[in-house]
Amino acid sequence: MIEIKNLSKIYFASGHEVLALDDVSLTVKKGEIFGIIGLSGAGKSTLIRCINMLEKPTQGSIAVDGREITLLDQQELRLARQKIGMIFQQFNLLSSRTVFDNVMFPLEITRVQRPEATKRVQELLELVGLTDKAGMYPAQLSGGQKQRVGIARALANDPKLLLSDEATSALDPQTTRAILKLLKDINRQLNLTILLITHDMNVIKEVCDRVAVIDNSRIVEVGDVLEIFSNPQTPTSHSFVNAVISRDVPVELLHSSTEHGGDTASKLVRVSFIGASAGKPLISSMIRRYNVDVNIIYGNIDRIKDTPYGNLTLEVLGHPGLLQEALDYLRGQGLEIEVLRNA
Ligand SMILES: Nc1ncnc2c1ncn2[C@@H]1O[C@H](COP(=O)(O)OP(=O)(O)OP(=O)(O)O)[C@@H](O)[C@H]1O
Ligand SMILES: [Mg+2]
Repeated sequence: MIEIKNLSKIYFASGHEVLALDDVSLTVKKGEIFGIIGLSGAGKSTLIRCINMLEKPTQGSIAVDGREITLLDQQELRLARQKIGMIFQQFNLLSSRTVFDNVMFPLEITRVQRPEATKRVQELLELVGLTDKAGMYPAQLSGGQKQRVGIARALANDPKLLLSDEATSALDPQTTRAILKLLKDINRQLNLTILLITHDMNVIKEVCDRVAVIDNSRIVEVGDVLEIFSNPQTPTSHSFVNAVISRDVPVELLHSSTEHGGDTASKLVRVSFIGASAGKPLISSMIRRYNVDVNIIYGNIDRIKDTPYGNLTLEVLGHPGLLQEALDYLRGQGLEIEVLRNA
C-alpha cells in the first residue's frame, strides 16, 4: 500500500539545515495497521506529512497504492489526497460548523450531490457512534467525541489509507482505548490500511500489526509487534518495550540466588509466552519431567493486539545436566527463553 524508498528530508531553518529524515525505507502492506514510534523530534510527523506531500521530500520515492506520489502535479495530487484520510492530535475541526457539517465538509469539496452526501454523513456518524450529536458544535464535545468527528471526516471520501498523527495523545487512557478500538473496527470492517505515529508504546500494543522504530531521523528497527515486544533488538526499542512491560530484573536478583547444595545448579531465566502457549501448563510439566524446582520471581500476562503475551522471570534449580534439558524442553515448546544469570 505504501512503498517508501530512501526518503530524506532536510529543513532549512534560519540558516541551518535540519536532517529530519535520513534515508528511510519502509513498506506498509494493504489492510494492516502499521505503527511508527519514536521520541519527540525523531521525525515522525515529517514522515507522515511526506506521505501525503504536505512536506516535499528532499530525496527518495513514495508510492501509495502503486502511484509515485512525489511525481504528481497539483491536480493529480488533489485527487490522490482524497483517498488518503488524516487525523490529528488536535482534531482540527471547524469550530463554526456542527458535527454534521464538519463531516460534510470534504464531501462539499469533492462536490458530492447533497442527498448522497447527507446519506454518507449519516452512515459515518453511525459508524463512529455520534448520530445523536449531529447538531452540536465542536466546543460542546469531549475530546474523544471530537476525535470521532475527525475520524468520520477522514473517512468521508472513502479513503484507502488513513494516516494518524498522534490521534490519541490528547486523550485520557480510557478514551484512548475507545478510539483505538474504533480504529481497529474500521480497519477490519472497511479493510482500510492505517498508518499511525505515536510516542506511546501502549498504542502500538493495542492496535498495530507491525511497527517501525524511528530514532534520530532513521528507522532503526521494523518488525511484527509481537516480535519486537518479545525480542527488541535496539536500545531504543528496548526502552519503549520496557515502558509498557516491565522486563528489567532488579540488580539484587541478578547477583543473588537461592541457597542450594553442591550438586544443584541454578539459573535465572526470563520466559516469554506468545499466543496459544500462554494457555498451556508448560512450567508444571517441565517441573515434573526434569525434577527441577522453580522459584517465581516475577510474572505478568498481557495482550498484544489480540494475542495473549506472558512474561515470567523464574529461578530454576536442579541437577546441572537436567537443568539445561529442562530449558531446552521449554524452547522446544515454542517459548522464548533468555538466561539472565547462571550460578
Ligand atoms: N518546518 C520545519 N522547519 C524546520 N525544522 C523542522 C520543521 N518541522 C520539523 N522540523 C525539525 O525536524 C525534526 C523532526 O520533527 P518532527 O516534527 O518530524 O518530529 P516528531 O517525531 O513528529 O516529534 P513530536 O513527537 O514532538 O511531534 C525536529 O528536529 C524538528 O525541529
Ligand atoms: Mg510530531
